Amino acid sequence: MNRPQTTVVLGMTADGKITDKALSPARFGSQADKLHLERQISFADAVIFGAGTLRSYGTTLPITNLELLETRKEHSQQPQPFQIVCSASGKLNPQLRFFSQPVPRWLLTTPTGAEFWRERTEFERIIVSRSDRHQEQIANSLSMEWDSILSQLKQLGIDKLAILGGGQLIASLLAVDVVDEFYLTICPVIFGGKDTPTAVEGRGWLQQQGRKLELVSVKQVDQEVFLHYKTIR
Ligand SMILES: NC(=O)c1ccc[n+]([C@@H]2O[C@H](COP(=O)([O-])OP(=O)(O)OC[C@H]3O[C@@H](n4cnc5c(N)ncnc54)[C@H](OP(=O)(O)O)[C@@H]3O)[C@@H](O)[C@H]2O)c1
Repeated sequence: MNRPQTTVVLGMTADGKITDKALSPARFGSQADKLHLERQISFADAVIFGAGTLRSYGTTLPITNLELLETRKEHSQQPQPFQIVCSASGKLNPQLRFFSQPVPRWLLTTPTGAEFWRERTEFERIIVSRSDRHQEQIANSLSMEWDSILSQLKQLGIDKLAILGGGQLIASLLAVDVVDEFYLTICPVIFGGKDTPTAVEGRGWLQQQGRKLELVSVKQVDQEVFLHYKTIR
């Protein structure tokens, strides 16, 4: 494959919401879910998340579990995966705590979005893409030239990419069919709300065009259900 293997990792409510109506940082999962997320992140060479997710949390989740850090060392991986922020506008507050976390940061943006960050040190690398108008029309969400971006990431040594949300980023990647698997944790709570974000935003698909999944495993831990799906092409 001329691109990294891609895995979405998300926690959601029983009604499919990934946050509440105030777009708060999603902290409704258990400690078991947090460790599961950290483990999935530890398998990745890089993680990617949308600017909305960063604006909501203000931080990223670093790997702190000593066993996971040790395993990365044994595999000659750097302690923390590259943290790739996807933002068409590039409008991110440099005062966010994320920018002082000891993690390597990359920015994926448009030529306009890159302007502010070029002469600054917050991002180790800036990957610039034109937005893909054709895909934007299909997905009704922002879209980058994913084929070219993902092949650049592969050339930069990213074999495994974890996609951490939010719904807009996942919609645009699913629209171009580059998501290989999903880890979804269903948490025992309902937030409701027609405008409250779900795992996949954008315009959506008709039933016949729905993205098909194969269930790989189901695990229950206390009140949560951990689902692992592969996408079928
Ligand atoms: N439950 C969970 O596991 C989980 C995980 C992650 C996030 N969340 C929650 O989800 C919410 C955020 O979700 P969201 O759907 O609003 O946000 P999102 O996808 O994280 O962010 C949307 C923003 O990211 C950029 N973006 C996303 N896809 C893009 C693309 N294809 N091309 C260019 N730019 C792109 C754009 O940034 P610009 O505006 O800068 O152009 C866009 O406005 C937060 O409340 C967060 O707490 C929950």
